[in-house]
Amino acid sequence: MRCRQTITAATAVLCVLGLAGNRAAAQAPLDAEAIVVGAGPSGLAAAVEMGRAGVNVLVLDMNSVMGGHAVMAGGFAIVDTPLQARLGHEDSPELAISDWLEWTEDGDPQWTRFYAERSSELIYDWLNEMNVEFIRVAGGWENSVPRFHFTPRGAVDVVRALFREALALPNVDFEWNENVDSLIVEGDRVAGVVARNLRSGAERRLTGRHVVLATGGFAGNLERVLANWRTDLPRPDRLLIGASIHARGEGLDLARDAGAALKWMNRHYIYTNGMIDPRDPERTLAITAANGDSLWVNAQGQRFTNEDGFDKKILVDMLAQDPDTYWAIFDDESRGAFSMRGREWIRNLSDDHMVLDDPDATLKADTLTALARAAGLPSEAVQASVARFNELIEMGRDADFGRFASAADAPPKIDTPPYYAIQFFPMPRKSMGGVAVDAATRALDSAGEPVPGLYAVGELTGSVGINGTHGMDGMFLGPALVTGRVAGMSIAAAHAASDEQLDIAARPADQPLPDADTWRATLTAETLRALLATERDGYWHFQISHELVLERAYDCTMCHSAQVPFAPLDNREHKVAQTGVCGNCHGR
Ligand SMILES: Cc1cc2nc3c(=O)[nH]c(=O)nc-3n(C[C@H](O)[C@H](O)[C@H](O)COP(=O)(O)OP(=O)(O)OC[C@H]3O[C@@H](n4cnc5c(N)ncnc54)[C@H](O)[C@@H]3O)c2cc1C
Ligand code: HEC
Ligand code: HEC
Repeated sequence: MRCRQTITAATAVLCVLGLAGNRAAAQAPLDAEAIVVGAGPSGLAAAVEMGRAGVNVLVLDMNSVMGGHAVMAGGFAIVDTPLQARLGHEDSPELAISDWLEWTEDGDPQWTRFYAERSSELIYDWLNEMNVEFIRVAGGWENSVPRFHFTPRGAVDVVRALFREALALPNVDFEWNENVDSLIVEGDRVAGVVARNLRSGAERRLTGRHVVLATGGFAGNLERVLANWRTDLPRPDRLLIGASIHARGEGLDLARDAGAALKWMNRHYIYTNGMIDPRDPERTLAITAANGDSLWVNAQGQRFTNEDGFDKKILVDMLAQDPDTYWAIFDDESRGAFSMRGREWIRNLSDDHMVLDDPDATLKADTLTALARAAGLPSEAVQASVARFNELIEMGRDADFGRFASAADAPPKIDTPPYYAIQFFPMPRKSMGGVAVDAATRALDSAGEPVPGLYAVGELTGSVGINGTHGMDGMFLGPALVTGRVAGMSIAAAHAASDEQLDIAARPADQPLPDADTWRATLTAETLRALLATERDGYWHFQISHELVLERAYDCTMCHSAQVPFAPLDNREHKVAQTGVCGNCHGR
């Protein structure tokens, strides 16, 4: 029996005596029927699913805002949708299964099948009913027909819709800035969480029948990624953070400490196009960037791969270089082919000049010799590589690496100064391993038995192994929604099957909207500057978003027009209105 953590000193004694699971604890009111840890796409999907089924739900997030990584993410892989049909892309679950198992090599076969057969209903139709519209579908290496579905502004549209839906349900509540530090394990069951408020420091024990961990991946935790490196791939000399600093993987420890097993931990989706974010004093954050016309050379000044090839092949070729980094070289004529994506546009980097004309980010010189010198590359080798590249372009066929087979497909020659060089590093973006779960997303122990009371969903489960060893487009957001819903359905089924009357403790009532005149005077750039002057725990998003407010000289009332500064106890109506302002910075 597990007795690592208990509710009170009294039960601790019972635990020592081996009597946990006692009546005294069972009779104390629960804080919720289900506690969801994490308000990203998977946690929100679980909350909506359960809320609609009448389950009493409490969602906790360490951030002050919802959405998790979905606020910076793009699209969803979905199979055989009305949009595909309308656009003439004939798709079927069988086709998707065969594409995906071939690409991933060892994707979990059950989840692959379940996902291929049900994604259209569980994602597309479901979101459509919430007025989320998919408008575009893109292709990708792994797919024989386009399956990568987009809403107008990207995944932020989806989390906003889910959040609004959840707020409309009186039995679903949210609490922000609550960092879950450990799980309460009572007898052999997970019975709640211990949460620490990042603003006040207050620690609370919150009890529930079921705990759903939806805390995301660990791609932002470089130590952990390196500690779980694949033995068949060379260890990188240097990695950049390609996700966010919040992808720490705390949920892995929560689950493991409660008895769950971790699986596929050495599988990471490593992107090869990370350049150092010049704004980051630590120089570990990546900007996701590319120049589709560029030529890549390694530290020896030599070309080493087809720059336009499969990303999984490029990764292997890149890691085989010593050191495993490359410089993308292009000229002034191809400057316009430079692009960035991911979180970059949020903070004003949408303007390429901030990167291309920043000597901290991009090297620029009038000759290739000077460029090579600035980059610390052997100049003769660089010149030879560029000359050879130009020769291949003239020939109309890349005889060296197979990048183009005709003059029409070839990039322009590199011969118009100034010349540019950007150094790139590998960067973990998404985790493809994590908590082991069954088909109902119940967390499993090392013997394959469910850990009672514990569910894990989303990227925390490595997207249920659906990506196998090689990541796929849209196969993180999609599985986040599907696994969130599956957990929600499992718990809803348990709820429906039980005739037990749960005693749920009352939560603080929503606050009425305060009178506008009492707060409007405080909304000035001066008060904001004073607030930002001190760095406070639990205010990460407030700080980073309002630095931008000052930088762009936004008027406070643009977002705070009918509301006080968004405070923790705002009512539901207020929170719904608040989601409208997220789009002022997030979404494309
Ligand atoms: C730049 C970028 C672009 C992407 N684009 C795509 C894409 O186009 N398509 C795609 O399929 N995938 C994409 N992804 C991946 C996708 O965004 C994630 O896989 C997805 O958001 C995972 O959802 P989740 O709910 O599992 O976790 P997350 O979205 O990571 O949310 C986890 C939440 O849990 C909270 N949390 C974590 N630990 C704790 C704790 N201890 N206590 C309390 N709260 C906690 C976090 O604050 C966060 O809100 C992208 C990722 C990045 C970084
Ligand atoms: C583009 C939208 C936008 C603008 C403009 C804006 N804010 Fe905000 N504000 C937000 C959002 C979103 C939050 C919630 C952020 C969070 O909790 O992380 C917020 C929260 C706040 C908070 C509450 C922080 C807390 O949780 O205690 C204060 C105070 C605040 N804003 C002040 C201002 C002032 C002053 C201005 C004008 C100088 C301003 N804001 C302009 C969007 C905006
Ligand atoms: C004034 C601009 C602004 C507004 C308005 C705003 N944000 Fe943000 N948000 C940012 C910036 C900047 C970042 C940091 C991005 C980065 O890492 O560079 C961020 C990051 C986030 C992240 C964290 C992603 C991660 O893990 O790093 C979440 C979640 C988020 N925002 C949600 C919201 C939500 C929900 C709203 C609406 C209530 C909102 N934001 C409104 C500017 C804004």
